[in-house]
Amino acid sequence: MSWIHESKRTWVERFCINVLRSGPIPKHVAFIMDGNRRFAVKKGMEKLEGHSFGFNKLSETLEWCLDLGITEVTVYTFSIENFKRPKEEVNCLMNLAREKFRELLKEKEKLEKYGVCIRIFGNITLLPVDLQMLVAEAVLHTYNNTKTYLNVCLAYTSREEITNAVKDIAKEVVKGNLMECDISEKILDQSLYSCKSTAPDIIVRTSGEIRLSDFLLWQGSYSVLSFLKVLWPDFRIWHLFLAVLLFQHNYERLKEINKNHTLKTLHEEEELDIAAAVAQYESNKSNSDNTNFESEILRLRNEMNKRRDKFLDQLDKDRYEKLLQIKEGNTSQ
Ligand code: FPP
Ligand code: MG
Repeated sequence: MSWIHESKRTWVERFCINVLRSGPIPKHVAFIMDGNRRFAVKKGMEKLEGHSFGFNKLSETLEWCLDLGITEVTVYTFSIENFKRPKEEVNCLMNLAREKFRELLKEKEKLEKYGVCIRIFGNITLLPVDLQMLVAEAVLHTYNNTKTYLNVCLAYTSREEITNAVKDIAKEVVKGNLMECDISEKILDQSLYSCKSTAPDIIVRTSGEIRLSDFLLWQGSYSVLSFLKVLWPDFRIWHLFLAVLLFQHNYERLKEINKNHTLKTLHEEEELDIAAAVAQYESNKSNSDNTNFESEILRLRNEMNKRRDKFLDQLDKDRYEKLLQIKEGNTSQ
């Protein structure tokens, strides 16, 4: 089955979609697609066959999301923890990913039609080199698409994502390009794999497990969590409708919580920036006694923001450059 499945909804489904679309629709839904192997066992199949059914369900789900007007989807396809599974299963999942990314690269017209931008969240250098090349090609090919976003978490855990971001920031502090006072919640947020993404409105986990398993821990702080008993390959459009209804039911409260969080963060970061600028002013004072306090604080804050912008700009360029190198098969760096 292709990634972008094109099938018709029944009239009842279309009716429900229209009803839901008259209310607020989540912009971004994330899925922990759990229960593939249990599904296969339940059906009397080879355990690993469950993953192919899992992919087919992903493809159907993407279509349902498009129909509902959900423009960003994040899927947990392979956790760093999954490398600890039996070799045969890791190989099976890597082969599935190879096959699906190859197919995706053949579906360029559909990618164009839906304006899909594919992003990979994760440490792709942990993947086999040929798969790294395929995913880099898919990301680069769809880099400038802006209608819909598909974030594929591959070799991903939130802890690794946050650690990686902290390392990127620390390197620049050591080089003197960033100062300790430049580090803020916003700059950490903008250094994650998800830096170009919005926070998920809903995180759905199937299979009855009620854990996040190191998935979008930073980004999901204010997401609606929907834990469903259904095994992922048994997931139906009705389960998605249910998750959207849950979001709509909580919408006003979520809007308020998100607004308060944004304002609080802005306010706190501004206060911290001012305090850091004042501390710098105090320590420089003896050299520049005549400087006007307010204009000096303003200048120091501008410098702070310039260093941050330069860092984030360079990080973006470096990550793009790394993808180009991977795509060309140069994985030595
Ligand atoms: C969890 O079920 C699922 C996974 C570890 C793999 C998810 C991957 C897909 C749905 C498709 C892959 C797509 C691409 C592009 C490679 P599980 O194995 O934990 O099953 P269980 O909970 O029943 O044991
Ligand atoms: Mg599982």
